[in-house]
Amino acid sequence: MAHRDDDTIWESIRAEAAEDARAEPKLAGFLNNIILGRSSLEDSLGYLLASKLESPVLSALTLREVIMHVFGHEPSIQDAVRADLQAVVTRDPASRGYSQPLLYFKGFHAIQAHRVAHHYWTNDRHPLALYLQSRISEVFAVDIHPGAKLGKGLLFDHATSVVIGETAVVEDDFSMLHEVTLGGTGKQGGDRHPKIGRGVMIGAGAKVLGNIRVGEGARIGAGSVVLHDVPPHTTVAGVPAKPVGMQPKGAFPALEMDQDFGAEHES
Ligand SMILES: CC(C)(COP(=O)(O)OP(=O)(O)OC[C@H]1O[C@@H](n2cnc3c(N)ncnc32)[C@H](O)[C@@H]1OP(=O)(O)O)[C@@H](O)C(=O)NCCC(=O)NCCS
Repeated sequence: MAHRDDDTIWESIRAEAAEDARAEPKLAGFLNNIILGRSSLEDSLGYLLASKLESPVLSALTLREVIMHVFGHEPSIQDAVRADLQAVVTRDPASRGYSQPLLYFKGFHAIQAHRVAHHYWTNDRHPLALYLQSRISEVFAVDIHPGAKLGKGLLFDHATSVVIGETAVVEDDFSMLHEVTLGGTGKQGGDRHPKIGRGVMIGAGAKVLGNIRVGEGARIGAGSVVLHDVPPHTTVAGVPAKPVGMQPKGAFPALEMDQDFGAEHES
């Protein structure tokens, strides 16, 4: 099991869970199982994901071993889990504290389960990776091919109906809402999915299609269909998407969830 000294996020999660268990005794057993009786954030997340992803053909006990083999031994994934929790707490006004995304936010769950699937995919254990993708998709309504490469500091808000293809790459500090597709056009094989730069924010329902690059710090409006490269620090929207409104105020709109598109085009 992973144990970290000075794990302030895990200490906060435990304090929040103890308070919630006092305030809502009906949830005390649940909070004890998932948080208060666990030894670390990895132990907690592994237990939670295994209980959600178990099925009649793969038990929670077996899945826990599969998941903890990754969470317990991959410091880069342990760092990414914490960066993602911090991202939710900082950027999602609906989240009050670290325990809420850990316990209840399926976008966070799907990303962390994908990190496990991606580990097995890159270690040539494709059937296990694909089993995990299939269960993640069924349980969380988030379909990420296990080959897709995700950075850290990610917020998938709501996350229902998110689709991310095999050769997609998402860099750090990225935010998006539900019903986003990072998909292929259907016209290319091989490396066929979008590459999303650091700090990009994508609104609900946007479809980003093809092996195109969305530059660092760009924003994509809700409902857009993006078929061409988006320059860095540019706002695009529409079907097909074109530059619109104001440029993002900060370098990384994902960090502020900057959704003020304004009326004027400042270029
Ligand atoms: C395949 C696809 C991207 C483009 O098809 P295409 O016929 O080859 O079109 P082109 O890329 O040559 O574009 C032709 C024109 O139609 C526009 N266009 C293409 N797709 C469009 C769409 N979905 N909505 C509106 N306009 C679209 C293009 O901007 C272009 O306009 P222009 O000539 O003024 O520049 C599009 O039809 C599509 O959406 N396919 C489905 C892909 C999908 O669902 N992927 C998800 C996988 S998970």
